[in-house]
Amino acid sequence: KTTAFSGAAIGKGNYRHFMEKELHEHPAVIGDTLRQYVDPATRAVARPALPFDPATLPRLWLSGCGSAFLVCNTARYWFETLARLPVDCDVASELRYRDPPLTEGGAAMFVSQSGETADNLAAMKLLRSGGQSLVSVVNVPESTMARESDTTLMTVAGPEISVASTKAFTAQLSVMACLAINFARARGAIDAAEEARLTAALLEVPEHAARLLDSSTEIEALAADIKDARDVLYLARGSLFPIAMEGALKLKELSYIHAEGYAAGEMKHGPIALIDSSVPVIALCPSGPLFEKTASNLQEAAARGGRIIAFTDEDGAPALRRFASRVMVLPKVDPFVAPILHAIPVQMLAYHVAVLKGTDVDQPRNLAKAVTVE
Ligand code: AGP
Repeated sequence: KTTAFSGAAIGKGNYRHFMEKELHEHPAVIGDTLRQYVDPATRAVARPALPFDPATLPRLWLSGCGSAFLVCNTARYWFETLARLPVDCDVASELRYRDPPLTEGGAAMFVSQSGETADNLAAMKLLRSGGQSLVSVVNVPESTMARESDTTLMTVAGPEISVASTKAFTAQLSVMACLAINFARARGAIDAAEEARLTAALLEVPEHAARLLDSSTEIEALAADIKDARDVLYLARGSLFPIAMEGALKLKELSYIHAEGYAAGEMKHGPIALIDSSVPVIALCPSGPLFEKTASNLQEAAARGGRIIAFTDEDGAPALRRFASRVMVLPKVDPFVAPILHAIPVQMLAYHVAVLKGTDVDQPRNLAKAVTVE
């Protein structure tokens, strides 16, 4: 049932870095993961049995570290808006010491590529002792997290060698999107037709992802634009806000440029003070319900001299071109799947900035692939 990746055969192939190779695996990995969770004939989500009933689940915890935590953040928007399920979301390093009040009959999902992250394991222990059922979403079936949970949901990303997580991130998002659809159905929040519409939108993502990977020349030009910046601000709203944070995290870890991901509406509560022509502002702003709000925040940044670099789609591009210095047009997709698609160019951008700066792309300084100590 899983993609045949042979450990012995892992190499960079014709790519310069493992990260470049792994970025190019996005379409296959998203497709493989979706095939595991969506029945192509009925367009319904087919998932393994869970230790709780999503129809009656009172509350769900989502936790992880780093990029996996940002997956949890995105999934929170999906579970809340689509499935009307109350969600708490926290980094595992905080959750493990917080001793929060736990809802009886509640459950927790922990997301991790390695399945070995120490803070996740400690937080799992805490929630287990509080009577919560535990599900892990991991990429390594024999990992400690898989063993410590009631149910393990696999991402089908294959081995990820680069310290910066790429394909595991979109595979995790794909699993969480399927679960949100499934829970929404179980809770009566959507009908079979809506489930089929949303899974169809998901199944189109691999093809869109492949097109994005072909546009690396455009991303390289953006990378040249920001490589000398000292600070970079990433802005977005809604389910794209965690992807803005993912863009900032990747840029920090790979190029050592200071970057922050901010909810666009929060900009005027502080970060706007940073903005001048030396601070690139990278915006994730596809057309959709939050477009106007985000665009008006960006306009405010542009009015203060900010250099706006916007990722949008064909419907959003004309309005943004009026004030943005660069606009990259991504395929137009259903807003539900936009976070998965937008993750790819922000990761590519961080990769190309790192290449231009000559940093150690696959093994950035001070970082480990799996953080197995506190
Ligand atoms: C991502 O690019 C980072 N290297 C890091 O944040 C990573 O996602 C985090 O350490 C979590 O690792 P895990 O998924 O193996 O638990």
